[in-house]
Amino acid sequence: MKTISTFQRLKDNNEKIAMLTAYDYSTAQVIDKSGIDGILVGDSLAMVALGYENTYNITIDEMLIFIKAVSRGAKESFIIGDMPFMSYNLSVEQGLENAGKMIKAGANAVKLEGCNDYILNLVKRCVESGIPVLGHLGFTPQLMNTIGGHKIQGKTSDKIESILESAKMLEEAGCFGIVLELMPAESAKYITENLKIPTIGIGAGKYCSGQIVVTDDIMGKFTDFTPKFVKKYENLHDVVLKGVHSYIQEVKNEQFPSEKESFELNNEEKEKLNIK
Ligand code: KIV
Repeated sequence: MKTISTFQRLKDNNEKIAMLTAYDYSTAQVIDKSGIDGILVGDSLAMVALGYENTYNITIDEMLIFIKAVSRGAKESFIIGDMPFMSYNLSVEQGLENAGKMIKAGANAVKLEGCNDYILNLVKRCVESGIPVLGHLGFTPQLMNTIGGHKIQGKTSDKIESILESAKMLEEAGCFGIVLELMPAESAKYITENLKIPTIGIGAGKYCSGQIVVTDDIMGKFTDFTPKFVKKYENLHDVVLKGVHSYIQEVKNEQFPSEKESFELNNEEKEKLNIK
């Protein structure tokens, strides 16, 4: 069973941490079998699984359904629940209560975006209450409107120092790791080398302590948009489409279901009904 110590040990041994997202039971089962280090039930599920335009509309109650499904499927991986927009922004008490709901639903930790005095206080209260926290800096989708769109972060030395300062404060507050999203590889390298805890990159180059990507992106299943940092390992969209076409054809041609996929009535009952 993977824990926060696994993450720290991997960083300390200079071994990379591999993480993926999962939102449902069967995907979590497959990913868990693969030996992945951590599964994030990301709020990206708002777009990928629910078809919303962005992550703003997903609620804590909806997130809990997906966390429960993933925790039933994943037995070995470390499961992190992503705190959705406005589920931790109203008060520390609200954030702590909702983080607790995620743990009760089966997550082993929660992820929060950003860094300010309020977030640092919330991180401390979660950690004191036994809830590990993964921070998230760089591009933070829940702050997209104040950032002004999908912009690459940490492009100047001042900005990189400022992200590092936030990362150090999150580390000090008790975060066990920090997601670094959308920044030049060298910026993430500088930040990673100046932290004790691991960094998990997404669109942040190869020098982070580990990587996370959205599973449906790298498997080619979600095709609404594909960020530059996504490498497609498979093309599940085409695989599913091909399978569905074959199914339709076989139904129309009466090739499916065949005897192999059917149940037979016994002869006695057939005779009673005069079925040949
Ligand atoms: O919601 C999400 O999937 C994320 C990323 C870090 C993968 O936050």
